[in-house]
Amino acid sequence: MANIMITGANKGIGWEFTNRYLYRGDTVIATYRDKDRSQELLSLRTRMVDEGNEALIPVLLEVRDQASIDACFDEVSQHIESLDMLINNAGMGDNSVDIGDAAVHKSFGNLEADAIVDVLAVNSVAPIMITQRFAPMMEWADNPKVVHISSKMGSIELRGDSGYYSYSASKTALNMLGRIMSHDLMSMGVISVMLHPGWVKTSMGGPEAPVSVADSVVGMMKVIDGLTPEMNGGFYDWEGQELPW
Ligand SMILES: NC(=O)c1ccc[n+]([C@@H]2O[C@H](COP(=O)([O-])OP(=O)(O)OC[C@H]3O[C@@H](n4cnc5c(N)ncnc54)[C@H](OP(=O)(O)O)[C@@H]3O)[C@@H](O)[C@H]2O)c1
Repeated sequence: MANIMITGANKGIGWEFTNRYLYRGDTVIATYRDKDRSQELLSLRTRMVDEGNEALIPVLLEVRDQASIDACFDEVSQHIESLDMLINNAGMGDNSVDIGDAAVHKSFGNLEADAIVDVLAVNSVAPIMITQRFAPMMEWADNPKVVHISSKMGSIELRGDSGYYSYSASKTALNMLGRIMSHDLMSMGVISVMLHPGWVKTSMGGPEAPVSVADSVVGMMKVIDGLTPEMNGGFYDWEGQELPW
């Protein structure tokens, strides 16, 4: 059974990954950043421990804060020696509560430098810094993997309209950073890819999204299970289709 770390595990896609890997029998390091918003995750841990099952390990992590990444690493090291998979899932949209009203921030004429930098810090820089910190823990794992949850919105070729400046650019940057890092990771035996989960019904994707969280995560788990060294550094969707950069 694998040791899997998932960031942003308290809701949406991260929560679904957490439940499905637990169900499969894996140990899940599930990171969250706010206790009040993570009650479902924390009470699942309590219920499992009551049944003698320690497979769910919730750990605090504010992904944009290096001190938090270091503290998370120290805590995770107390539970496991080797990490088989890291899923960099935590992310924010242009319209996140972190930066206020979407209509203000995402349109031309109202762009704000700090708001753009905020999105880049969370969606592009954080996954790379987290991966760098945890990579040494993956070196001795069997078939280790890093999955960066990216987005089709980050494909320069596929973006044909305006809007979502910072979100789209943040995923483009993630793709490039992840692509470069894939070479370093491969030299340690770690396969890494960027995955687009589909347009998914979560608080980020909204209720009109056509793909359910379950379908998206089941699809991505299949793609992840089938990853080969030839796919290293690639950009794929939840159904395994390669996406243009
Ligand atoms: N839904 C879609 O249609 C879609 C499409 C393409 C790509 N994606 C990507 O899929 C991933 C998951 O998205 P989702 O739809 O599941 O969104 P979601 O329901 O909004 O969940 C986002 C997760 O990221 C966490 N997070 C955000 N900022 C963070 C920070 N600074 N530090 C730590 N954790 C942070 C959130 O924690 P809090 O609850 O504490 O805020 C939450 O757990 C994201 O990377 C997103 O860009 C989603």
